[in-house]
Amino acid sequence: MDAGDITVIRQAAGMQALSRGWHSEGLAVGLVPTMGALHKGHLDLVVEARRQCDRVVVSIFVNPTQFGPSEDFSRYPRDLEGDLAKLADIGVDAVFFPNPGEMYPSGFQTRVELTRLPAHLCGLTRLNHFAGVAQVVLKLFNICKPDVAVFGQKDFQQVRVIEQMVADLNLDIRIVRHPIVREPDGLAMSSRNVYLTREQREAATVINRTLVDSEAWIREGEHQPAAIVKRAGQQIREAGGEVEYFNVCDPVTLDDLNRIGAESTQVLLVTAVRFGATRLIDNRLVDCVWAPQPM
Ligand code: PAF
Repeated sequence: MDAGDITVIRQAAGMQALSRGWHSEGLAVGLVPTMGALHKGHLDLVVEARRQCDRVVVSIFVNPTQFGPSEDFSRYPRDLEGDLAKLADIGVDAVFFPNPGEMYPSGFQTRVELTRLPAHLCGLTRLNHFAGVAQVVLKLFNICKPDVAVFGQKDFQQVRVIEQMVADLNLDIRIVRHPIVREPDGLAMSSRNVYLTREQREAATVINRTLVDSEAWIREGEHQPAAIVKRAGQQIREAGGEVEYFNVCDPVTLDDLNRIGAESTQVLLVTAVRFGATRLIDNRLVDCVWAPQPM
């Protein structure tokens, strides 16, 4: 099926053949895996893939195995036509749009699990989420055969899981992290922002504001993670957000830090906040080489 100039492929074998053809011509293939409901954040990932590769594939698949039983799988926004129109505007060579039966035919039984990274942050409440992400991303890699895959840094833990899987399994794919794309008022772009009421949408700007303020508190000399977590939590709650977590952690292992600047040269401030039923995540990577520690 062709939507404008974009080839939409629903079968894994067809996608593999197309990518194999490109590779045989010596072309570099970039992949942007998505669950659709595309916004500017996704489109920036596509532009980055386009910048680095000769051919760009976007996958659109709302992956059931990464949603918990009480999560938003069935109501997750879906808009293939709108997505294809947006992708046609920026130039994508193929969209891989499989149905669940193509990805998980009857008899499917393979899991892909990491042992440590998912035991932090979102993994504590979204049980099995990262096993589902690793499973589908590994399948998408094997189907689309990219040289480069681009992921947004808003889902920081997801990117770390994928980077670790690629390293652990010697996958010959370069993972590119793309900076968080924000609305003009600072809210990180997310397909889930559409769930917010007008009041919640306004209040949710506290998330980025608090991450920025937390960096300022660190720069002003606060090196105790517990103090940052307490102050940040208070600020978010005062604006009406329910804080699931706000952590100050090592950006590689995602382990909590005992003291800022002592264990690593970068600190990850990372949070999950609910406004009503909507759960938003965001983060900020802070360089702390400027923070000399007492000998
Ligand atoms: O970030 C997402 O949209 C999804 O988790 C991904 C990477 C496409 C896997 O389903």
